[in-house]
Amino acid sequence: MSDKSIFDKLLAEIDRLVSSGLSRDETLLRVCQLLESSVAYYDWVGFYLVEGEKELVLGPFAGEPTEHVRIAFGIGVCGQAAQRKETFLIQDVSCETNYLSCSPKVKAEIVVPIFKNGRVVGELDIDSHQLSPFSDEDRDFLEQICRRLSGLF
Ligand code: SME
Repeated sequence: MSDKSIFDKLLAEIDRLVSSGLSRDETLLRVCQLLESSVAYYDWVGFYLVEGEKELVLGPFAGEPTEHVRIAFGIGVCGQAAQRKETFLIQDVSCETNYLSCSPKVKAEIVVPIFKNGRVVGELDIDSHQLSPFSDEDRDFLEQICRRLSGLF
């Protein structure tokens, strides 16, 4: 739904942010704000950070506050993506049984792990209020972002 030139422009801005010398969490926050304000169907954009061996803790985000501040590996879409070490793209969350709802407005979600030396160190999580909003271009774009952010961990 977004054309590739917007994604290319956003990637260039994220490259600038990553090399700007800001702290990790300030950089992550600005990435959230940039994505949430630039892509119409990205309604909540946040990072979960891995703490200990098998827990995700909410980090910087843009959008409404969520009650899901700690998520165990294997639980919900976020926990499954961390456990399986792969991107989860859910075009209709009402079809998911292992799902943690943040808001009834959310219809779709994509979760992309951030890897460091083969381990998951965090995740980028995006909720959308639209059904089936994500394309292969979104997946590719968000995976590229997570590869760029890996160096901050
Ligand atoms: N829906 C997620 C929980 C996090 S919120 O989307 C912010 C899940 O099922 O893991």
